[in-house]
Amino acid sequence: MLKIDSLNVKVDEKTVINNLNFDFELGKNYAILGKNGTGKSSLFFTIMGHPFYKVNSGTIYLDGENLLQMTPDQRSSKGIFLAFQNVPEIPGIKLFEFLKMIYNSQFDKSKQLSFMKFKKLIEPIINELGISKDFLFRDLNVGFSGGEKRKLELLQIKLLKPKYILLDEIDSGLDVNSLHKLGDTIKSICSSQTSFIIISHYFDIYNYIDIDKTLIIQDGNISQTGGKDLIQNIKNNGFK
Ligand SMILES: Nc1ncnc2c1ncn2[C@@H]1O[C@H](COP(=O)(O)OP(=O)(O)OP(=O)(O)O)[C@@H](O)[C@H]1O
Ligand SMILES: [Mg+2]
Repeated sequence: MLKIDSLNVKVDEKTVINNLNFDFELGKNYAILGKNGTGKSSLFFTIMGHPFYKVNSGTIYLDGENLLQMTPDQRSSKGIFLAFQNVPEIPGIKLFEFLKMIYNSQFDKSKQLSFMKFKKLIEPIINELGISKDFLFRDLNVGFSGGEKRKLELLQIKLLKPKYILLDEIDSGLDVNSLHKLGDTIKSICSSQTSFIIISHYFDIYNYIDIDKTLIIQDGNISQTGGKDLIQNIKNNGFK
């Protein structure tokens, strides 16, 4: 369980998360909705350990362990994955090297894969996602289209098999075919050992996945919770 307990977070002097409590259960999927600037991305950044987001009080537990005492890479190796709203471009690092590094960092030296073994592991995954092999030897995200960047997020999820998968507006700017592909891929990853927690301002993405609970964020806190029907309600009527 990913347990958020009385969490208060500030960026500079601004409160972005205000006494938020919620338990995300493994195997369930969540939709997070809310107006712009209400703290949705801030919640994800705090869970992941972004240094700008200062936790003033409260705790986040992952299966009983205090997540706040872990570095972002430790959080990642414990099974938390964040797909960013804005993915950075990193010249000088090839996609292949990046993927190999994040994959191998999960294991002791003895279990880490060589170039050839990692190539064998990654090639079926990129084929499945319809990514051209050329991408592996391009600089990380540099010049990739919005849809291509999204595919790379999915590629990392397929590779790392995280437990709690936080998707922050991963569907924005996708053409209709890419959205179908994204939705189908998310569906194929869903299991009793994963939880998707999905922020989106477009409602179509939620059609692909069984959402167990919907949370509405307002002023850094949860103003309302409900089932999948709450998504339709907000779509029809907007936020109150
Ligand atoms: N690094 C930062 N520096 C300054 N202000 C920040 C920072 N991060 C967040 N904020 C502010 O905190 C508030 C919440 O931002 P956040 O990005 O969490 O909103 P959001 O709910 O994800 O909005 P959107 O739907 O537009 O993505 C906003 O007013 C934002 O300007
Ligand atoms: Mg946001």
